[in-house]
Amino acid sequence: MLYLPIVNRKVSLTGIKPTGNLHIGNYFGAIKPALELAREYDARYFIADYHALNTMKDPEELSASIREVAAGWLAAGLDPEKVIFYRQSSIPETFELSTMLMAFTAKGLMNRAHAYKAALQGNTERGDDPDAGVNMGLFTYPVLMAADIILFDSDVVPVGKDQVQHIEMAQDIARSVNANYRREVLKAPQPAVRENVAVVPGLDGRKMSKSYGNTIPLFTPEKNLRRLIMRIVTNSQGIEEPKDPGSSQIFLLYKLFASQDEQAALAKRYRAGGMGWGEAKEELFRAVNRELAPLRERFQGIMRDPPALDKILARGAEKARPIAAAVVARFRKAAGIDLPV
Ligand code: ADP
Ligand code: TRP
Repeated sequence: MLYLPIVNRKVSLTGIKPTGNLHIGNYFGAIKPALELAREYDARYFIADYHALNTMKDPEELSASIREVAAGWLAAGLDPEKVIFYRQSSIPETFELSTMLMAFTAKGLMNRAHAYKAALQGNTERGDDPDAGVNMGLFTYPVLMAADIILFDSDVVPVGKDQVQHIEMAQDIARSVNANYRREVLKAPQPAVRENVAVVPGLDGRKMSKSYGNTIPLFTPEKNLRRLIMRIVTNSQGIEEPKDPGSSQIFLLYKLFASQDEQAALAKRYRAGGMGWGEAKEELFRAVNRELAPLRERFQGIMRDPPALDKILARGAEKARPIAAAVVARFRKAAGIDLPV
């Protein structure tokens, strides 16, 4: 089947690091908003596996993570027929473009990248060599990311705040290329910052994050889901005491999964007193499980058939490569390295 993008729609591109074990913070903070973009944009999503290689050196862990995260996005509703969904490592043009972009990237620009600077600072504070543990993959990460983006003539890149600097660097790099050849050879992307997505609280009230070990994994079995929800930290208010839904982590989570009417009804019960935290958690569990049960089932179904999943990603690469090849050809021509082989 031929992939026909709807003409004149702008291109959005989302890169997904396959770091495994998606949680409900990722779901509401990144997956859902990114999937909604497919209504308005010609949307492309890719698994950034070469980026993950910088930190993940265990082959089993990395390949399992790639499949899990890909299956996760499909289970969450990504429709591979309507969008382009592929693995970065299936698009060799990425690395060709990355090499060309290196020639237009100031080393000083890389010195200023947050992730690299944070590594240097950590080393210095520990009294280590400043570059200890810093590989060239980490140092040149923004160039590879610029290649991911520029390769598809992306108009917008939806990201969390932490990634804005990378998009701005991609802009800078594309503009230096265009300035050199005095025409728009490459498209400079715009960041679309997700400003109003809620920060999903974790089991201990802090931001839900893998690094805090306070997550509710998106596809955890029902039994474990209940067990985790029962572990959410609460205050010591007794059953009869009226409770303030506005300051309760449990209610905050409930809001993500319940309709307006359900939220209003439960808020009333909080305020009236007579409902203990155990019951509030039970209500939360029911609402969470109602939304996640079908996702979990789809996820398990996809994970049971790895060849089918690999085929979906391979098909995505087939759709992506001609687009990428055209951009690389344009750049090679502008650069004067398009002589016949
Ligand atoms: P983690 O903090 O668990 O390591 P990542 O940094 O891998 O999560 O986040 C991947 C995406 O999910 C990012 O776009 C981030 O903004 C979003 N995200 C992660 N945790 C949350 C959260 N608790 N609430 C909202 N969004 C989140
Ligand atoms: N750096 C991004 C992250 O850590 C992942 C990523 C890689 C990406 N390439 C991209 C995101 C291109 C958007 C566009 O989340």
